[in-house]
Amino acid sequence: MLKVENLKKTYKSKKRVVEAVKNISFTTNAGEVFALLGPNGAGKSTTIKSILGLVVPDEGEIYINEINARKDRKKALFMMSAVLEGNRNIHWRLSVKENFLYFGALKGLGGKRLKERMLEVSELLGIEDKLNTIAGNLSRGYQQRLAIAIAILPDTPLILLDEPTLGLDVESAIEIRKIIKHLAEQGKTVLLSTHDMNLVEAVSDRVLIISDGKVVTFGTTKELKEMFKAKSYKIVFEKKPSVEIIDKLSEMVILEEKGNGDFSISVNFSTSSHTLYDIFEVLKEEKPQIKSIESEDPNFEEIFLRIIRGDKND
Ligand SMILES: Nc1ncnc2c1ncn2[C@@H]1O[C@H](COP(=O)(O)OP(=O)(O)OP(=O)(O)O)[C@@H](O)[C@H]1O
Ligand SMILES: [Mg+2]
Repeated sequence: MLKVENLKKTYKSKKRVVEAVKNISFTTNAGEVFALLGPNGAGKSTTIKSILGLVVPDEGEIYINEINARKDRKKALFMMSAVLEGNRNIHWRLSVKENFLYFGALKGLGGKRLKERMLEVSELLGIEDKLNTIAGNLSRGYQQRLAIAIAILPDTPLILLDEPTLGLDVESAIEIRKIIKHLAEQGKTVLLSTHDMNLVEAVSDRVLIISDGKVVTFGTTKELKEMFKAKSYKIVFEKKPSVEIIDKLSEMVILEEKGNGDFSISVNFSTSSHTLYDIFEVLKEEKPQIKSIESEDPNFEEIFLRIIRGDKND
């Protein structure tokens, strides 16, 4: 569907040169949600803007369904739509309906077809009651919904969303998640950049982690979770072990004291050089009563942080 090959982009001004994207390649499939992750300044927005042709890459090629987006920009633009950071693709002074009519016309839609699409997408985004509201008076969450509605109006096979849940409350963010899932189910390719790890976990099929303009890790969301699975354990004690034991353990693991009188230790073998046996070697001295031992699944946020910090998983 979308193929990005050896993308490179440097911003040059009189004062400084920023190598925003040093070398990024990836391919997406139809009907998948593909997440671009990375810390601030990693090059996510630059990658998205390069695909759209809003910035001109120094090197690399971009293909959308075999169309070379750099050589044949007009054709490529018909295949994709986008919501960039800060939902600038809506007109604040126009009503929701006027926004649909205006941007629809720009995309070559009109008449009955445009009216039909407007009703379809406004229902999908839950803004059918807001058609007469001035866009600038909508809440942040609804403005974002409108921005997405307008982006999907022309029904393009590729949708680019740069931080679609930024600044939204939990409910609106969940709503956006549902919409992204729905789009993928309809066979659309959604390329998404985000810092919202709940969104990544909930909707993305594959994840490309970039940092400093380069690819750090790539895999399915499931693969990345597997990589760190069963590397974390939590041992809960009936009562707090002695100070001597705690002192020794504190050099090896994270200790936690819960309000309910439970005392537990969390061992993370992906970040520690110790093994469960080392812990038991210390515990053997006193044999404190163990209430439970569980293996913990790290959430995606932890996985992301460990990858970015360069932690090894074995
Ligand atoms: N128009 C520009 N001119 C100069 N430098 C820029 C420009 N746009 C981005 N940069 C720089 O390029 C680098 C990559 O920025 P980019 O916006 O692509 O990162 P990002 O991954 O989207 O970050 P964020 O998570 O903060 O949105 C940063 O160092 C940024 O300061
Ligand atoms: Mg960005």
